[in-house]
Amino acid sequence: MNTAIRYLRYYINAKTLYQVHSPFLYKIITECITESRYYYMFDDIQSHYMTLRHDDTPIDVTDYGAGSRLQRNRTIAEITKNASSKPWKGRQLYHLAKTLKANAILELGTNVGIGTAYLAAANTKAHVITVEGEKNLTAIAHRIHNDLNLDNISYHTGEFSAILPQVLNNLTHPIDLVYLDGNHRYEATLEYLALIQPSLASKGAIVIDDINWSDGMLLAWQTIIKSKWLTWSLNLGQYGIVFWDHNAVETAKHLTYIDYKYKPWKIGLFT
Ligand SMILES: C[S@@+](CC[C@H](N)C(=O)[O-])C[C@H]1O[C@@H](n2cnc3c(N)ncnc32)[C@H](O)[C@@H]1O
Repeated sequence: MNTAIRYLRYYINAKTLYQVHSPFLYKIITECITESRYYYMFDDIQSHYMTLRHDDTPIDVTDYGAGSRLQRNRTIAEITKNASSKPWKGRQLYHLAKTLKANAILELGTNVGIGTAYLAAANTKAHVITVEGEKNLTAIAHRIHNDLNLDNISYHTGEFSAILPQVLNNLTHPIDLVYLDGNHRYEATLEYLALIQPSLASKGAIVIDDINWSDGMLLAWQTIIKSKWLTWSLNLGQYGIVFWDHNAVETAKHLTYIDYKYKPWKIGLFT
C-alpha cells in the first residue's frame, strides 16, 4: 500500500473532538494535542531548532535506519530538517509529559535533541534518558541542552538493541513515558517494546512515531494496539500514543483522531 493510501484510510476513519466520548481521551487531546498554551521555554527551544535548520556545518553520520551506512558531509541543517521533531510536535510532547506528570522518560532516537529538549523542559525534576546510535548527533544534542540549561537528561550512545538492556538494567525509576522515534521497522519496533515493557511504571504512555510511514510501521502499530495490557490507543496520523494502566479493568479502546478543521462538517450537529 502506498503512503497516500495509508493516510487516506487514516483520514476516512478519523473522528473529530466532537465525536470523542471518553473523558480521558478528551483531556489528552485538549491538554496535549490542540492545547495552545505557550511557555517561554518554547521560544528558546524553537530558536535553537531554527539555528540548527540553517547550520551548514558538514558532519559524518552513520545512518542506523539504513543498515548502519556511513554518510559523509551531511549538513546539520539537512539532518535537522529531515529527522528532527518540528516545534509543533515538540510542544505536543511537552504537554503530554506535563499532563501525565511523567517522572521517568525514555526516548529512542535523540538526533539533534529537539524532541528531548521539549520532554525535559516539561518538568525539570523529571529524568529523561535518551539513546542515539550516532555520537556526533549526541554531541550536538548535549550542546543544545547545555545552552538551554536542561540538566535532567542522560545520554546513551549505541545501537538500540545492543545498548537498551544495559540502559534498562541501570534504571532507578520505572518509566512512565516512552518516545519510540528511531529505526521505524516492524520487527525492530516490536523488539524494543518487548525489551522496555518490564521496566514500565504502573501507568503511562508510549509515543510511536511514523505509524503511517510504511506498511511495516502500520502493521507494528496495529499489532501493538491489540496488546492486552493497554487501555487506550490514539492514532494521530503521523504518530500514535498508547496508554496503559495496570489498575484499569476495561479492555483497550481505540480512537483515530483528526482536528475538526480537516473535517469541518463533523462539528457535532450531524455526527
Ligand atoms: C527521527 S530521529 C529522532 C528525532 C528526535 N527524537 C526528535 O524528536 O527530534 C531518529 C534517530 O534515531 C537514530 N537511530 C535510528 N535507528 C537506530 C538504531 N538502531 N540504534 C541507534 N540509533 C538509531 C538515528 O540516528 C536518528 O538520529
